[in-house]
Amino acid sequence: MKPRDYSGPADLAAMQRIVQRAWNPDSHWHIGDLAWQRPSMPDRTIALWDEAAWAWFSAGNGLEMAAPPELVGAVLAWFDEMAGDDEKSVTVMETDAAAIDGLTAAGYRPAQTTTFFRHCLRELDDTLPAPQITAGYQVRSVRPGELAARAAVHRAAWQLKRLGEMQVPPVDLGEGGSGMTTARYGEIIGHWPYRSDLDLVVEAPDGSLVGSALGWIDDVNHVALLEPVGVDPEHGRRGLGAAVSLACLHAMRAAGATLAVVCPRGDDAYPVPRRLYHAVGFHDAGRTVTYQR
Ligand SMILES: CC(C)(COP(=O)(O)OP(=O)(O)OC[C@H]1O[C@@H](n2cnc3c(N)ncnc32)[C@H](O)[C@@H]1OP(=O)(O)O)[C@@H](O)C(=O)NCCC(=O)NCCS
Repeated sequence: MKPRDYSGPADLAAMQRIVQRAWNPDSHWHIGDLAWQRPSMPDRTIALWDEAAWAWFSAGNGLEMAAPPELVGAVLAWFDEMAGDDEKSVTVMETDAAAIDGLTAAGYRPAQTTTFFRHCLRELDDTLPAPQITAGYQVRSVRPGELAARAAVHRAAWQLKRLGEMQVPPVDLGEGGSGMTTARYGEIIGHWPYRSDLDLVVEAPDGSLVGSALGWIDDVNHVALLEPVGVDPEHGRRGLGAAVSLACLHAMRAAGATLAVVCPRGDDAYPVPRRLYHAVGFHDAGRTVTYQR
């Protein structure tokens, strides 16, 4: 089967269908991951194998894929052809035996990097506690007309300086910000399965937005994804991250999801998000592994 080049949002929807058809609790991807990453697609080299598999890589030659066992070899051959002889890495789920066998057969070996992502799961049932919202703050869905403010609250949480301070040990990442713009957020909300009732914000006493949690539902598999959660550091450590996460989980349960997944860093160098998700009842499940050649 020959790959075809990615050609825009219709192919993104095809990639989501591939993910949705194969989804299980060990899956690397949820349909919401792809929608969230829509604005980055033009920066990647992406191929699809009909409605069966896809793969992408960007600068740095790090490949990610969703492929059934019989197409792993074809994906790796395409990567060789496209990325040439330069150093390459491929990240897959640790439980994806077919991908790991294919990588090993193609000469890849476990990478030295200690960075990985830990998938965490939580049943959406009566054990879900009610959010405790810090006095004076309000958690609610984003409203029409708040696109610019919604993008701005994302930027406030993902300032590089703050992300560097959250690392262990702290790292100086400079003063830059996240690349989120109003236009980029506009692309995300225009793509299936975005729902504004699952896009929650925290409103501070002065009316400004200071936190957010975005939920995505795969209504075939009844599985919810929390991606991403952020709180402006000026309002951090007041329980707002936990409150907006729980409110979003409740909204997704009410919309029919029975299981939630979240995918924070699992290594010790960026531990805070995983702590937050454990604090709202997620438990560790599978993890990613990176292979190199
Ligand atoms: C992760 C983040 C959303 C937490 O928001 P927050 O409002 O400060 O979190 P909360 O006050 O609700 O904290 C909930 C729990 O998370 C953990 N936690 C939060 N911040 C922490 C920190 N700086 N150090 C250690 N643990 C921390 C604690 O277990 C805390 O419970 P506790 O206060 O009872 O000890 C916020 O730090 C953030 O926006 N970070 C940058 C963006 C990011 O990495 N998002 C997550 C990945 S999508």
